[in-house]
Amino acid sequence: MSLEEDRPAAKPGPADTANAAWGGRFAGGPSAIMQEINVSIGFDRALWRQDIRGSLAHAHMLQAVGILSASDHAAIRDGLESIAADIEAGRFVFETALEDIHMNIEARLAERIGEAGKRLHTARSRNDQVATDLRLWVRDAIDAIDAQLRSLMTGLAQRAASHAADPMPGFTHLQTAQPVTFGHHLLAYVEMLSRDRGRLADARRRLNECPLGSAALAGTSFPIDRRMTASLLGFDRPTQNSLDAVSDRDFALEYLSALSILAVHLSRLAEEIVTWCSTPFGFVRLSDAFTTGSSIMPQKRNPDAAELTRAKTGRIVGGLVGLLTVMKGLPLAYAKDMQEDKEPVFQATEAASLCLAATEGMVRDLEARTDRMAALAGAGYATATDLADWLVRVLKLPFRTAHHVTGRLVGRAEARGVDLSALTLDEMQAEEPGITDAVFAVLSVDASVASRTSEGGTAPANVAAQASSWLAILATQTRTKETGA
Ligand code: ARG
Repeated sequence: MSLEEDRPAAKPGPADTANAAWGGRFAGGPSAIMQEINVSIGFDRALWRQDIRGSLAHAHMLQAVGILSASDHAAIRDGLESIAADIEAGRFVFETALEDIHMNIEARLAERIGEAGKRLHTARSRNDQVATDLRLWVRDAIDAIDAQLRSLMTGLAQRAASHAADPMPGFTHLQTAQPVTFGHHLLAYVEMLSRDRGRLADARRRLNECPLGSAALAGTSFPIDRRMTASLLGFDRPTQNSLDAVSDRDFALEYLSALSILAVHLSRLAEEIVTWCSTPFGFVRLSDAFTTGSSIMPQKRNPDAAELTRAKTGRIVGGLVGLLTVMKGLPLAYAKDMQEDKEPVFQATEAASLCLAATEGMVRDLEARTDRMAALAGAGYATATDLADWLVRVLKLPFRTAHHVTGRLVGRAEARGVDLSALTLDEMQAEEPGITDAVFAVLSVDASVASRTSEGGTAPANVAAQASSWLAILATQTRTKETGA
């Protein structure tokens, strides 16, 4: 098989006609290979909504400042709306010869409404047009991802509220460290996702400036009103340097960085779900809805959604690295390299959105095996720190000394193959004569977690309060978004 056979567009010989939009000085059409490397309609058609929104605002402004007549403006507006309806209904035929979404729409407009359609591109270039379209697209995507994040955080906080007092082993180095509650563990992800929302909101604030009117690179001699188009499109203000405006892709890079960090967070939770589902751990069980079977091993229940969420981090981080590499070293202002900005943005968005949906599905689906978690929460001398803390608090030993005494007691317990709480008082006193019966009260898992009342600690009371405070915050935000207040 050769790659060329798979490339239907790459037939030898030039396309027979010059491009209708820019072909004035061209006698012939582009070679098939030129066309193939140049076209973007295969992917930038995803910008059609934003492109039409941008054109409607531009036309409105052109008429307001007297560049377009009222009747031309009306024809353009109706034409664009009918094109939007056709695309929505799947009736619009995108043409490769017209390269990209901008020229596909503009050419169709001229076909439909004639001369007026050819006036739309006054005081505009595809360079400021595409920069505007992509900003609008990313802004919409941020809003959609934000809504998914809110929903996932709500799912996590709800599960956390119901498991606020259920102990599980807390790990460092994936070695049993100290008991924590399952609710506390879930809320750790709520914190991460909340920072992800913050980064996206921050990127959104910075991107919300309108490039339209920067034209090709130098601005325009037409008396346009950039503030009007900016405000019609919901931007805070117009961009302030035309060279920067047409060639800045920071907003896409910031968005991809925020998505990459989000993806890394989701991959960590995914990895934990994979571990928790494994037979040796057995902390959670995913239902049939979120697992797959093995074609050879009938007992298997594989957490594929978690594994794929973990894996899709590769595409998302790949998108960031890809676009950083495209932008590196590009001289001002626009260069066609920048056409390569779209696919990483689109693909990373699709992957992130799917991972968010899958993660929320798993979080809501999983059955927590709290008995299993509790049993392992005390294993591995998980309450050794509680013993050391008791020696400090009650016997006033310096912490370093208490640490040594506890270490020797763990050694004794290990030699006998028992838990710390199974040591006798005599054995305890052999290491530290001051120890009394009262020590046994701090060696239980429940006492251990209940004692961690410092701000942000794992005590069930803290966790319950944290979960309800998150749920209250998330509920207000959801209501505000819905009412648009
Ligand atoms: N399809 C192009 C892109 O995505 C649109 C801008 C083209 N501008 C130009 N001068 N060729 O970047």
